[in-house]
This record gives sequence, C-alpha cells and structure tokens, in this order.
Amino acid sequence: MAIRPILRFPDPKLRQRSVTVTDFDDGLRQLVADMAETMVEAEGAGLAAIQVGAPMRLFIVEGHVAGGAEGAPAKVFINPEIVDISDEAQTGDEGCLSFPGIFVPVKRGMRARVRAMDLDGNTFEAEGEGLFARALQHETDHLNGRLLIDQVGPVKRELIKRKLRKDAEAERQEAAERPAARAAGG
Ligand code: NI
Repeated sequence: MAIRPILRFPDPKLRQRSVTVTDFDDGLRQLVADMAETMVEAEGAGLAAIQVGAPMRLFIVEGHVAGGAEGAPAKVFINPEIVDISDEAQTGDEGCLSFPGIFVPVKRGMRARVRAMDLDGNTFEAEGEGLFARALQHETDHLNGRLLIDQVGPVKRELIKRKLRKDAEAERQEAAERPAARAAGG
C-alpha cells in the first residue's frame, strides 16, 4: 500500500467526469488499498478515485461513517448510482480533502440509497442516513466533476479561492525555506 497525493482545487483533473470501471483486477485492488491508506492519513470521511488522479467511477467511505464499527475498513463503492434521495433534507458544514481547511454549509438529502459494485464486481445496495448519506452524495458529485465550491454563491466562492491560493503560496514558501534553514544550521 502507498499513500497517494490528493489533488487540490483548482486542479483541472477534479472537473473530469470519471468513467465506468470494467476491470476488476489487481490494479483496481491496489488503487482501492492506496485510497484507503490515503484517506486514513488525511483523516477524511470519504475519498473519490479522481481525487488521487484516477478518473474512475469509484469512491470509498470511512468504515465508521458507513455504519461499521469504530476502525472498520473503508467501504468501497464501484460504479455507484444514487437510486433514491429522501425529501427530508439536512444542512450541515461539509468539507473535502481537495479543499483543505474549507467548510461550507451544504443542503443534502437526510437519507440516500446507492446501488454499487464491490471489488469482486457483485452488485449491492446500501442506504445511508445523516453523515453517511452526505458522504454518498458528496462523493457521487466528485465522479461527475462537481465540487464543494459549486455549492456556494459567487462571493463565498471568491473567498475560498483566495484562501486556497494564500495557503498554497505559504506552503510553497515554507518548502523553499526548509532546505536553506537546514544548510545554514549545518
Ligand atoms: Ni470531496
């Protein structure tokens, strides 16, 4: 397993529409294993394949969020389709590993039902409520190139872009200064 870099907005790849998974092979298992490790490291509730640069219709949801026990393995959803969203809604702060440090209130269905395949290509259905339902809707958006920033108005959108630019610039500067400091310190 390996941790893969998570693409950040405004990386244009995040806007791609992901394609249907057809090969349930070792490469797919490796990708999912890497995604699980990457999500745990980043402390995320979910991760779509496109966020690590693989434009495939697949996402994972953290095991506990997906209704399992604390520390349960991530639940895998391949070629997922939302088949039902409740009329009852929920509004809550939503984050995304591709928008570090950004949380915005997003209205979602309280419950969502999804049909997907597992790593062996078997079809299953799952129903989520609350945070699990939110994750199912958020991750499905990723597969269609739809992002957290599309959920807010133009003013807030500019603020988010500015903050991410500033954070990225600060990180670049820190990275540039680090080797110099090491050299100076011997
Ligand atoms: Ni996300």
